[in-house]
Amino acid sequence: MEFQLSLKSLKNISYSIITGENHLGKLRDLINNKLNPDKSIIITDENVYNLYKNKFHDQLIKSSKNFELIIIPSGEKSKSQKVRDELENQIIDYKPSRNTLIVAIGGGVVGDISGFLASIILRGIRYVQVPTTIIAQVDSSIGGKTGINTRHSKNLIGTFHQPSLVFIDFNFLNTLPEEEYMNGVAEILKSLLIGSPDGFDFLESNLNSIVARKDNVIKKLIEESIRVKAKIVEKDPEEKNLRKILNFGHTVGHAIESLSGYKLKHGFAVAEGIIVESYISHIQNKFNEVDLFRIQYIVDKLKLDKQYRKKYKFEKALEKMSYDKKRINDQITFSLLRKIGKCDYNKIVAPEIIELAYNH
Ligand SMILES: NC(=O)c1ccc[n+]([C@@H]2O[C@H](COP(=O)([O-])OP(=O)(O)OC[C@H]3O[C@@H](n4cnc5c(N)ncnc54)[C@H](O)[C@@H]3O)[C@@H](O)[C@H]2O)c1
Repeated sequence: MEFQLSLKSLKNISYSIITGENHLGKLRDLINNKLNPDKSIIITDENVYNLYKNKFHDQLIKSSKNFELIIIPSGEKSKSQKVRDELENQIIDYKPSRNTLIVAIGGGVVGDISGFLASIILRGIRYVQVPTTIIAQVDSSIGGKTGINTRHSKNLIGTFHQPSLVFIDFNFLNTLPEEEYMNGVAEILKSLLIGSPDGFDFLESNLNSIVARKDNVIKKLIEESIRVKAKIVEKDPEEKNLRKILNFGHTVGHAIESLSGYKLKHGFAVAEGIIVESYISHIQNKFNEVDLFRIQYIVDKLKLDKQYRKKYKFEKALEKMSYDKKRINDQITFSLLRKIGKCDYNKIVAPEIIELAYNH
């Protein structure tokens, strides 16, 4: 399948998001014939490289001109200023030109730091996203948000730099550990809740197949989530307004993730955020009670709610929420559901209501 993402407000930037199976050879052809760089620098992580090195060498590197390879340690710790420094120098060692291409093959960590480097090397070169986790396929690879973490918090340094191509191969998901898989399902749930009533119904009627990792079901859910994200990013590429709805579940989710010292994976934290913020949506934004129960049922059935919020007093979570990038005049704002598939943004919520929802 091929989606087109067109950003008319940003110098007419447009790129394809291509999905398929076992088609890395097609990526090689697209790079060589369409993007035509003088050199391609693949950035991947150790886990992905160890699992796919034969494929990379046979289908990408061996049969192509001028491919270099950089492998970073796996995990969030690689999205750091230290690793960024090392990568900058490694890339410069390869004597890049303005026509050099970075090819990020991995999860959100590889995609975020590679995109950031592409945005600053020689004041900006092109890059391709090849996402290998569900989170990266439905979320981080699309929309051009790049970033690294600081000692203060996650993603505080970053840029908007759109990729030239997003290339998705569903076969990567076969090796994804169970926890990473369910971590991604939580982000799918969020996407469908904010933008696809039909997608949400489909998810709700396929819960057993999702748990059983049925290929045809998960592919359909990923493609529907991509459609939702691409549509939102097209309307508001730099998160000035509508794109904020992608943060549904994230105001509370980020607070819980941070309180856990990042032991709780992002998607599971967002699942708890979805529970709390759906409840706030019900109290404050006319979100239907029956739909609230449907969401609760799905989260329970998929075992996405690890109940970390019960470990931390509300005051601590509130303190974390007050650092949220979306706050307005020191007031905490939320994206809130109005109905399934429709979400509002910039909704100021009083601490008493957040507390009621957090503890309910
Ligand atoms: N830029 C954005 O818009 C955006 C959106 C959402 C999340 N993010 C960022 O994405 C990151 C999280 O992404 P993630 O969950 O993909 O994390 P990740 O990149 O750390 O990947 C998770 C783990 O899965 C492994 N892995 C990756 N692909 C695999 C495969 N096919 N088979 C087996 N193992 C594989 C990785 O090595 C890693 O250990 C966070 O840093 C988050 O801030 C960014």
